[in-house]
Amino acid sequence: MTATRLTRRELVRAAGAVAFAQMPSVPARALESTEELADIAAKKGITFGCQISSSFFDPRYLHLYQSSVKLVTPENDLKAVRLNPDGARYNFSSADRILDFTTNNGIAVHGHTLVWANGKYNPPWIQQMPLDRVASFIDEYISTVVGHYRGKLASWDVVNEPTSLGEGNYPAYQSGPFFNALGPDFVNRAFHAAREADSKAILVLNEAQTERDDKMGLAWRRNLLTCLRGLVRASVPIQAVGLQAHLQPQIPFDPRAFDSFLGSIEELGLDIYISELDVNDESFPDDVAERDQKIAEAYGRFLAVALKHRRVRRLVLWGMADPYSFYGPVFKQKHPEAARKPRPLLLDAEFQRKPAWSAVERALRDAPARRNA
Ligand code: XIL
Repeated sequence: MTATRLTRRELVRAAGAVAFAQMPSVPARALESTEELADIAAKKGITFGCQISSSFFDPRYLHLYQSSVKLVTPENDLKAVRLNPDGARYNFSSADRILDFTTNNGIAVHGHTLVWANGKYNPPWIQQMPLDRVASFIDEYISTVVGHYRGKLASWDVVNEPTSLGEGNYPAYQSGPFFNALGPDFVNRAFHAAREADSKAILVLNEAQTERDDKMGLAWRRNLLTCLRGLVRASVPIQAVGLQAHLQPQIPFDPRAFDSFLGSIEELGLDIYISELDVNDESFPDDVAERDQKIAEAYGRFLAVALKHRRVRRLVLWGMADPYSFYGPVFKQKHPEAARKPRPLLLDAEFQRKPAWSAVERALRDAPARRNA
């Protein structure tokens, strides 16, 4: 796209101009320049970011990326389902386009994700791979993908969502080709391969469901900590843990228990990234004002605990504006007739700031300062 040849200043101006041209109804408040969340975060030593996806093609969003975040995580463009859906050849073009944009605009990129443990999130050719091929596949895949971006990405989710309930017939790890072939060692192997392919990128293990204080969340936490202890003991090159934090406010959240869980990760000498934060508002009332209030409270409650921890060095949201949230299609599929739309993020459909924005801003202002790694 031509935008990649423009300077940052030109792009900001162009995106703003297009935004105004196309969206005459966008009130000035949406584009006013108050202190950006990324700048408030930076003063505390926290890197603020969000995911990037088809949102990239919306000029209003382009403007947000340029002005409001310091890091982006491609939502889907670096997953195996996109890079190599049928096993025939790798296609890096859509991720490369994002990289052109971020490079020209001084925005860091977090790679998501190399080995997604749960078989069902992988393309069929990986799901159905003979087990005796899996070890060499991990090495080859990581060397190809990480190698393609060597020196260009700030960090990688090397393994995504490895742990599981670990009860009954379920092991403590997600079932899929990787665990089925290698047992827990698939995690070690992936990290070593990633370090081999890029000596500088920060290597991260990204996990879901750890912010819930029900039976499932507690099992997830326990199994994740066991997994992390094993990795640290074996000197596996892991530097940070990503906690996704797709908050589900209908599920209990105990700030003290979560606080102590974060402390346990810190004791292992690992950094913590809040990696995919948003709020699932499905259990909240239809009334928008009431719902927005509750969503803001959910952000505030969670971040008050999370940002207290000095090793929490990144805050990444799974989007900034509601129309691009993955909850849109998820909710539509579940409730095809519903007029209501999810409002999980900080900006509404008109890119207006919602109470959630203020809640995140307040949490960042209240956070103690830390030095960045
Ligand atoms: C989601 C994307 O947002 C969707 O667009 C896609 O259809 C499925 O994946 N945990 C993760 C992310 O690690 O990769 C998921 O992203 C959300 C949950």
